[in-house]
Amino acid sequence: MPVITCIDDLKRLHKRRVPKMFYDYAESGSYTEQTFRENTSDFAQIRLRQKVAVDMSGRSTAGTMAGHDVAMPVALAPVGLCGMQHADGEIKAARAAEKFGVPFTLSTMSICSIEDVAAHTTKPFWFQLYVMQDEDFVDAIIERAKRAKCSALVLTLDLQILGQRHKDLKNGLSAPPKLTLPVMLDLATKWRWGLGMLGTKRRFFGNIVGHAKGVGDTASLMSWTSEQFDPKLDWGKIARIRDQWGGKFIIKGILDEEDARIAADFGADAIIVSNHGGRQLDGALSAIRMLPSIVRAVGDKVEVHMDSGIRSGQDVLKALALGAKGTYIGRSYIYGLGAMGEAGVTRALEVIRKELDTTMALCGERDVKALGRHNLLIPEGFE
Ligand code: FNR
Repeated sequence: MPVITCIDDLKRLHKRRVPKMFYDYAESGSYTEQTFRENTSDFAQIRLRQKVAVDMSGRSTAGTMAGHDVAMPVALAPVGLCGMQHADGEIKAARAAEKFGVPFTLSTMSICSIEDVAAHTTKPFWFQLYVMQDEDFVDAIIERAKRAKCSALVLTLDLQILGQRHKDLKNGLSAPPKLTLPVMLDLATKWRWGLGMLGTKRRFFGNIVGHAKGVGDTASLMSWTSEQFDPKLDWGKIARIRDQWGGKFIIKGILDEEDARIAADFGADAIIVSNHGGRQLDGALSAIRMLPSIVRAVGDKVEVHMDSGIRSGQDVLKALALGAKGTYIGRSYIYGLGAMGEAGVTRALEVIRKELDTTMALCGERDVKALGRHNLLIPEGFE
């Protein structure tokens, strides 16, 4: 078993163990990947202020996110096709998150269904919704999430049309993979992954297949999905979904001050400053760069969360110090999932918490809730 000391170690192992088309699916951004790259490189521009001779004993990373107690303010972001990174991937990630004490968010585009995940976990998880044109489908999936006792609905607004990722087209991404010669040659070296998949009992895309009109198998799902993202999504439809849900409501994919103000007035419990991990609008600024102005724009009206580009506890600390009340990791846990299943997700969370805790101490802080701009050295022109 290799020694894992950082998220990059998990990424290397993920690449070695998971079929190329699914590694590339996770690792790519849209078009030129400028936004994808800057999500991480902009974090590196923010520097930390070292403090010495301060009491650093009794530290705590605990906090709350949208009214939920969390062991650290880091949730698992919704990620489609988790179950192709590792057999039963959504169940594995949800179990790791619940044992660790952080929220897991199940994607609409997951392999395991809401019911699969609920049956294999003991605590409520969060559910992420993409708004589809088929209103019956939307109504039904909201009711399913309620029945499964999901404790928050995360509504994603930045994917009503798909940002193109070149690698997915070139690899012929599909789930399950089509067995072309290059795919079979690749699979020959990824036997561990293949064995796991042979053992799974799940119906692929269990949130949709068998639940949406005319979607009886994964082949029909592909064409249904590309036509179904609702291009007419507006705040009126969002209000209808908010009212139908009636519980904790989080709006994901905000990257603009004006949109943030609207979302805040809208009564959301939290907004997530995010550019979908650089997978949608290529050329948008990084989420960490947009965070400060959005925090200023909404003030105390709504809790601000952020994701896109977090690869370490240091990154989490920077986001919190810039005013985020919570953060999400996407790829950082996907690397762990692909590398080692549930143990890999746990390892990713452990790595990040240790880094966050140590960095807090070296910044002279004992409580994650006390972090602020005083901990940072921000380069001129960053905001
Ligand atoms: C995503 N993301 C995403 N978001 C969402 O709301 N629903 C989804 O189904 C998906 N699917 C998805 C797949 C993959 C492979 C990735 C990498 C991302 C976006 C995700 O929730 C989150 O915003 C980003 O992953 C954050 O960026 P980092 O942490 O991956 O840099």
